[in-house]
Amino acid sequence: MFHLWPRRRGARIAATVLLAASCVAAVVSVPAVAGQSDSTPVYQNPKAAIVARVNDLLHRMTLEEKVGQMDQILVTELRAPSAPADGDCNGGADQPLQTVCLQRVLIDNHTGSILSGGTDNPADNTGKGWAEQYNAIQKFAIDNSRLHIPIIYGVDAVHGFGHPFQATLFPQSIGMGATWDTRMAEAAGAATRQQLLATGGNWNFAPVQDLARDTRWGRYYETWAEAPVLAAELGAANVRGMQGGGFDAAKIAATVKHFAGYSQAINGHDRAEAQLPIRYLQDTIFPAYQGGIDAGAATVMVNSGSVNGIPATASRYLLTDVLRGKMGFKGVVISDFGDVGALVSAYHVAADFAGAVAKAVNAGVDVSMTPNDYTGWQSAMLQNVRSGAISEARVNDSVRRILTLKFQLGLFDQPFVDASKANAAVTANRDLARKAAGESITLLRNEQGASGNPTLPLRTDLGKIVVAGPSAGCAAPGPDCAAAVANQLGGWSVSWQGPFQQLDPADHRNCCIGRPDQIPDATTVFQGIKAAVSASTNVVLARDQQTAVSEAATADAVVVAVGEKPYAEGLGDFPAPALAADQQALIAALQATGKPVIVVVIAGRPLALGPGARTSALLMAYLPGTEGGSAVADVLFGKVNPSGKLPVSWPSESTQSPPLSQFNPGAPSLPGDQPKFLDLLPGTNFGQGSGYNPLFPFGAGLSYTTFQSSGLSASATVSAKGTVAVTFTVTNTGTRAGTNVVPVYVHRPVSDVVAPNRRLVAFARVSLNAGEATTVRLSFPVSRLAVTPADINGAGTPAVEPGGYEVRVDNLTAAFTVRR
Ligand code: BGC
Repeated sequence: MFHLWPRRRGARIAATVLLAASCVAAVVSVPAVAGQSDSTPVYQNPKAAIVARVNDLLHRMTLEEKVGQMDQILVTELRAPSAPADGDCNGGADQPLQTVCLQRVLIDNHTGSILSGGTDNPADNTGKGWAEQYNAIQKFAIDNSRLHIPIIYGVDAVHGFGHPFQATLFPQSIGMGATWDTRMAEAAGAATRQQLLATGGNWNFAPVQDLARDTRWGRYYETWAEAPVLAAELGAANVRGMQGGGFDAAKIAATVKHFAGYSQAINGHDRAEAQLPIRYLQDTIFPAYQGGIDAGAATVMVNSGSVNGIPATASRYLLTDVLRGKMGFKGVVISDFGDVGALVSAYHVAADFAGAVAKAVNAGVDVSMTPNDYTGWQSAMLQNVRSGAISEARVNDSVRRILTLKFQLGLFDQPFVDASKANAAVTANRDLARKAAGESITLLRNEQGASGNPTLPLRTDLGKIVVAGPSAGCAAPGPDCAAAVANQLGGWSVSWQGPFQQLDPADHRNCCIGRPDQIPDATTVFQGIKAAVSASTNVVLARDQQTAVSEAATADAVVVAVGEKPYAEGLGDFPAPALAADQQALIAALQATGKPVIVVVIAGRPLALGPGARTSALLMAYLPGTEGGSAVADVLFGKVNPSGKLPVSWPSESTQSPPLSQFNPGAPSLPGDQPKFLDLLPGTNFGQGSGYNPLFPFGAGLSYTTFQSSGLSASATVSAKGTVAVTFTVTNTGTRAGTNVVPVYVHRPVSDVVAPNRRLVAFARVSLNAGEATTVRLSFPVSRLAVTPADINGAGTPAVEPGGYEVRVDNLTAAFTVRR
């Protein structure tokens, strides 16, 4: 995130520009522990056990040094336009590192961790530039700190390492969620790991394990799914890929964020209040984070918002009792950006910074993403320890965890990266990214055309195809291309708010977008289509509605790429997520030509589509990444048979929902009737059952072939601690090879606590040739059915109610009983 904190003024210190670091091993000469003379300290012995190394180092550290390990400071604090004569070290992006600033932050204040937030790219924003910047900072810390302690470097590589502008970028998580493919989530994590290993960002603030339950929220696209089981499984796989399997010597730390309930603000806004009954937290919210934690995620980031009137950053219940006590997390907990200070400035639960620091640390925060005030952090922590507000034992707990992480990452032994390999590493894996995007694209409508065939797939030898819409792409590189590229990448790509936007100069998002000369090398929809069709096909790019309509008159098909501009965090909050009026009008005008209109939505969330919801064919492409245009073309022309399924419910539109439209007949299509999610509890609302009436339900997604499930059976009886075995057969009943995602739900006919009509408990992904069948055998732990017992104030331990349940697969059911 960019920062709005005031620039600080410090003492006048002579400065020199830092020289680039070379790849050298860590330094050896170390002060001995008082009263002990040892020339080879245990902590510097790579062969010693990590626990022994941590104990040895901790023993040598002063309180000031320990406290510094608990702080994370923005890289901008290490930069200035030139050696700052007045000591002002708060330099913006593109400014060089300055020795005086490094000295002050890393050495004088012992800061143990550096962050590049969303906007903090180095001047040379390439893989090599990032690697060299990291090496230089790391070398300074190791060479000059008394105990030669390496830093740990935080970045947000949320869909690949998005900052170096040539990087390969995967679909944003919401698209990865639509793949329902845990192997792909793991492979994407592993590819991101390769990018980070080469560039030095060893602490990755991903994956986001918050649930997607409110399309108004600007971070919806950063999440996997609305269903806890889907989010948990994809997150777990991603963590495994990112951390390289096991965590010992992992070299990259993943972060489960933002714990907990960050996506659940009551008004759809970022960092706003959430009101979450313990039952909902325990039964629905926590399990998604648990998936990442059980997969071994090294760190957890705290929710910036408040839950039930308490800022998460100050909640001992959340960060210690639940996270460590109940969920078994053993790693490092980091606050989000500036959130310790926010306990004073926003929440007013502390009178001053020292009070805020005491609340956060005593709640369970190990590292504060401060992000600028390193002297304030030092003095607040020292004051708290001296006054007894924070015990030294509590400090030791945190520092032990942080040092353990640094040893596990190998930072004491191999602290540097090879900058000469970084450019190749960040641009690798294009084919994998294309495959991921292809798997994510979700076919939501495919109507029969005049020929009696479905609109899609298109033939590659059509005479003329018109491509229109603001996300279609460009004929030649330029601002239109930059806009379309930015639209398909979304936020956290090059910069916080995305690589490019054509904004009003007064727009406050101007602060945080990338640079026009750093547009990623991505394939747009137009380019993808051009590359897919025959040499004789005329592909016309229509830049405006009038051209599109007149060209459509002689076209065989029209493809309109619509959606959203890039955004991130609160700047992406959108109270009425809908296609812009001019995009709805473009679709309607093209439909009026009578030609088949294929709408491709490139957006981070379901939008009200208006005429787009009633078009010949509708593809949801999410934010598909650098290979998005090729992937869309792969699906349009049938090279890839679509298998993406909505990982969320697509809310109905207000004009389609009778109880709402009666108030405003003829209103344009607006998003209506949300939040909407599959496990909404049933109610008594005028016979609409659960009230679950989305435009497209959770799990929706068509294929160019057809599948049928049959022969469902489940274990007849199980214990509450057991697993339910489920068997069914999937047959490809169509004429093409394809992949079918099969969600497995459980229904509870009668229960004490109101149960959702369907709860997702497992899923399968099956690839079959035409006519082929396979038997799927899977199992799920009965614990996935646990609910918090008792009345409205239920807050006890979730338990599985004994009694009758029903497994549901497509329209099949199989009963089973949980024994008492
Ligand atoms: C976001 C985090 C992110 C951090 C560091 C914050 O604004 O909420 O998700 O990891 O910035 O960039």
